[in-house]
Parts: sequence; C-alpha cells; structure tokens
Amino acid sequence: MTNGTSPAAGIAFPAGFTWGAATAAYQIEGAASEDGRGPSVWDTFSRTPGKVRGGDTGDVACDSYHRYPQDADLIKSLGLSAYRFSIAWPRILPNGGGQVNQAGLDYYKALLDALGERGIDATATLYHWDLPQALQDLGGWASRDTALRFAEYAGVVAEALGDRVAKWITLNEPIVVAHNGHRIGVHAPGLTDDAVAAAVTHHLLLGHGLAASALRAVIPAGTPVGITLNLTPVRIAPGAGGEHAARLEQARLVTDAFHNGIFLDPVLFGRYPEHAPQDILPPAELIKDGDMTTIAAPLDFLGVNYYQPAHLRPGDPAHLLRTEEPPLPGISGVVQYRPDELERTCMDWLIDPEGLYELLLRVSKDAPGLPLYITENGCAAEDYLNPDGVIDDRERVKFLHLHLEAAARAARDGANLAGYYVWSLLDNFEWAYGYQKRFGIVYVDFATQRRIPKSSAAFYADVVRTNAVPALPATWST
Ligand code: FCB
Repeated sequence: MTNGTSPAAGIAFPAGFTWGAATAAYQIEGAASEDGRGPSVWDTFSRTPGKVRGGDTGDVACDSYHRYPQDADLIKSLGLSAYRFSIAWPRILPNGGGQVNQAGLDYYKALLDALGERGIDATATLYHWDLPQALQDLGGWASRDTALRFAEYAGVVAEALGDRVAKWITLNEPIVVAHNGHRIGVHAPGLTDDAVAAAVTHHLLLGHGLAASALRAVIPAGTPVGITLNLTPVRIAPGAGGEHAARLEQARLVTDAFHNGIFLDPVLFGRYPEHAPQDILPPAELIKDGDMTTIAAPLDFLGVNYYQPAHLRPGDPAHLLRTEEPPLPGISGVVQYRPDELERTCMDWLIDPEGLYELLLRVSKDAPGLPLYITENGCAAEDYLNPDGVIDDRERVKFLHLHLEAAARAARDGANLAGYYVWSLLDNFEWAYGYQKRFGIVYVDFATQRRIPKSSAAFYADVVRTNAVPALPATWST
C-alpha cells in the first residue's frame, strides 16, 4: 500500500501521522493516598455507596503509579509514537492551590523520562475530571476561583515538566463534567442543578483559556496547546422531512448547540452558540469583560473524542417508543432515538463510523487550518481470556477497523487530521461503570495486574507500522 487512494488496497494516513494510546490518571494510577496525593472529587464520589457499580474505586486501578515502566514498555512494543495521559491535579496541589507536592511532580518526571527513553512523545492532559476535593468544598467549578486555581496549577506543572511534554491538553471533555457531573449527577461531584451546570460550563471554559496562557508563558515556544472536546454529530432520520422538516431542522440546531457548540463555539469563535437551549447557557452576570477573548485565544490543535452520534426523528415525548429518549428542553414534536439498524457496543453505544468522518470534515471546514487529533476513540467489549491464553476481541478489531477507515477517508478527503489515540491503552476504571466495562487494547487481570495485549492491540500495531488501514472486508456492511 503506497499511494493510499485505492479502497481495494486500503487507505494510507498522511506522512508523519501521530499514533497513540490514551489513558487518564484516576482511571489507571491507583496509589490514591500515596506520596502526598490529596483526595479528588472522584475519590469522594466512588466511595459514596451506590454511585459506582459494585462499589469500585480508583484506589488501586491498574496500579500504573508503580508499574509505569512496564506500561511504557507496552506502548513501545505497539510501535506507538505518542502516549496521552493525564496529570492528577491533587497529586501536584493536594489542596487545589498553594502548597506544591514535590513527590507528585517527581512521579510525572519519572513517567516522562520513561517515555522519553523509549522515544515516545508525551501528550499531557491537565484535567481529566479529578478536581481536588478541597476546591469542591469551596464550590468547585461553580466558583470562578476554581478557574484561577486551574491556571495556578498549569503554571506549576509547566515549570516542572514543560521541557518533557510534547503537547498539552487543558481539559478533557468539559461537557461531561458540566452535564454528567452537575446536571444529571451520574459523575462526580454528583450534583443535579441546571444553574450550577451552566456556571460550571463557563468556568471550565475560562479555566481552559487561563491555563493555556499560563502554560504558554513557561513552556518552550512552539509546544502545542489544545483542548479535547467530545463531539457528537446530530442526524435526522432518513426520509423524515416533509411536514416535519422545519421542526426537525430547528431541533437539529438546538441539539447540535447542546452537544457541540456549547464548548466548540466559545473556543473557536469567542461566543456561546445562538441555538443553545437557555437552560445550559451561563447567565450574563457570570461572563466578565475579557472572558470570551481569554477563552478564544488561538488553539494550536483541537482534540476530538468520538464515540457515537445523536439521532432525531418526529415523535411524541409523552409517549416514547422503545429506543426513543426525551428531547432536549425547548424542542417539541421531536425525539432522540437509536436506529435499530445500527449495531451497539456493550455500553449500548451506537457504532457509527460515518459520524467520525462527518465530524472531522465539518470541524476542518469550521476551523480551517486547525490541526485535529482524535484524542479518544474505542469501545468496550465483553473481553475474556480464553483457554489458549488469548483475548480475541473481534468486536473491537472491527470497531477500530471501521473507525480508522473512516478517519483515513476523512484525511484523504480534506480533513486536517494529524493523529489518532485509541481509547484506551489498558482496561481501567470506567467511571460510574467501575471495572466492569473494558475499553483497553491491552487486557488487565485486576487480581494480578498482569497485562495481556488483545487481538486488537496486534491489529492496531499493524495499522501503526504501515501507517495505513487495510481495506474493509467486503462482507461488512457499514
Ligand atoms: C470518555 C472519557 C474517558 C473514557 C471514555 C470511554 O468520555 O474521556 O475517560 O471513560 O469516555
């Protein structure tokens, strides 16, 4: 496969493409009370009965805090050029601000050195949801001060680690923090308050802008700084136009603003989206002079996480059918639904690689010239170690094959795609699902902490080695 244009021969990725795997601190590190780490909102939440399946916590997780050299070996053995991990704020500033914990910085220096020795570039995320509990006790992201503390934290890690990190990501999926954590309460800190969620939205964005500038004041010139958003293409049921066309289009605009525009428009264009439902918009009094300019400081790249799209069709929210869900506030006569014809993962998430293709082209059009990295994409599957000692995760191989093919096609068709990080390197603590949902390309036997690469790891390593995705088998209908 050399020129990469013939579908029969598969498709090549652009030269110099970044190939990585992603993880997050609370999901893999463990060592929750070691070496001066302070508690985070996820420690509190996971220790609250009924919040996480089976009462699982991140206390031990994959024990990557102690096993990072072995994990760095794994990354190298897959031929990856990059590793995306997150820094635990409460390891660095156990109280959120003020006193710095040197042992926390030393841990990440050692991790970064282990990566560097193996020729792996580090992509460091500053915030993957583990807010120091001390800051939550003062109001958390609902308080403007948390955005200032986030910038303080960014400055501290930039000073200590700035020479070792190839790329910085400020926030991971801020919509999940605002929505799951503060509107519907299924994530830490478990609040269910629309007004709080709206304030959190603004302060996360402000924190992003302030942290980006704090990083840039310290790190070597030219080190890229970006943000990771999970984006959700919004589809209208085929053939559902007719008398419903105008209503469906209005619902599409609102749903798109809810999932995408609410974070994308402020960082790209310095404004909140016109079509956003009122309930999710921060009130004007929280938006101080200069905030939107801070938030919209030019990004060096955008991280895109993609899992599944949203689908809309005409319907009656008072009488929902199977596979239908209520619409967002302000939408009438339209419901969200899950098309029967799409397969689903064991998370019950839709498998729709075309969504990835569409959204890469859309963002490339909206933000011309901005490099895009897929910073997460992957699936959970019912993995098990078979009697031959193998984890033959064919569902994941197929999922990755389909999505890598869509990504390669998008790059070929003009998307400004510079890299891909699979979610995840390891099976890990999947938030409210605990350890039951396995997303890794490497299996973790949590009883022994043994790591065993799955079939998907071999498939992915081949794609990485050839910088190309093989043609899809003719028998797959997509
Ligand atoms: C994303 C999160 C990541 C992981 C995957 C499955 O929303 O960023 O930590 O849980 O979903």
